[in-house]
Amino acid sequence: MALLDNKNVILTGGASGIGLETAKLFVSEGARVHVLDLPGAKLDAVAAIVAATGGSANACDVTVREQVDAAVAVATAGGTQIDVVIANAGISSPAAPFEEYPLDGFERVLKVHVVGAFHTIQAALPHVPDGASIIITSSVAGLVGTPQVSAYGTAKHAQIGLMRSLAVDLAPRGIRVNTINPGPVDNEFQTTFEERVTGQAAADANAIFDSMIPLGRHIPMVDIAYGMLYLAGPHSTNVTSTIFRIDGGMGG
Ligand SMILES: NC(=O)c1ccc[n+]([C@@H]2O[C@H](COP(=O)([O-])OP(=O)(O)OC[C@H]3O[C@@H](n4cnc5c(N)ncnc54)[C@H](O)[C@@H]3O)[C@@H](O)[C@H]2O)c1
Repeated sequence: MALLDNKNVILTGGASGIGLETAKLFVSEGARVHVLDLPGAKLDAVAAIVAATGGSANACDVTVREQVDAAVAVATAGGTQIDVVIANAGISSPAAPFEEYPLDGFERVLKVHVVGAFHTIQAALPHVPDGASIIITSSVAGLVGTPQVSAYGTAKHAQIGLMRSLAVDLAPRGIRVNTINPGPVDNEFQTTFEERVTGQAAADANAIFDSMIPLGRHIPMVDIAYGMLYLAGPHSTNVTSTIFRIDGGMGG
């Protein structure tokens, strides 16, 4: 039997990067994965992957409650219960000294990461049975300060606050709530960010970041997906309110 047989999963940001890697792994473990992500070719592509086990791909902006509710309604049609909720959708942050930091960028980053996670979890909760697992993708940037990206750092710390609050609120129902905190991941999201903050081309920017990671290398996306699998699956039933770092030691 696969680890997630007969499990229903809501996964935001599942059309790309870490979310896509997680969707593929979860499908291979038998899960029915319902992806919520912005419309476009990437969402269309993941639709074919999650269809293999009866999942769905839903165009949805996690900052818009009506859209989240509509997508959750698709995932829960016919009274389906949601065993795993993963609030993973995220965007990069403007990079600027705090004195010049743009308010609109600050607000947008908080809205996607924090309000988006709020909407996703609150909309799913009426369909979540006792003993379920909720995972929020935070970051090493939620553990330590990172220069020039105050919006992203604030949002990723706030997600940990949300997780801890929910972990105690939902513990009486046996619902577990944890964050997964990746360090710099070997993907386009991170490379684009590194190019922007270092002003270097990808290879040099990656090398600069490698030098900041104690283990000296970026994290493969599949490592994060297996962390998600652990937190979603049957071997973590006593794990809640945990900051699950997969960061090469960068979080200190
Ligand atoms: N890449 C890294 O190094 C890294 C490190 C730590 C944490 N993270 C976090 O991991 C998560 C996934 O990032 P990734 O690296 O896979 O990046 P990615 O850009 O590949 O994936 C992010 C996904 O979120 C979706 N998304 C963005 N805004 C959305 C919205 N308003 N509504 C619905 N979907 C939306 C995007 O369309 C995309 O599919 C993010 O929360 C990110 O902050 C990434």
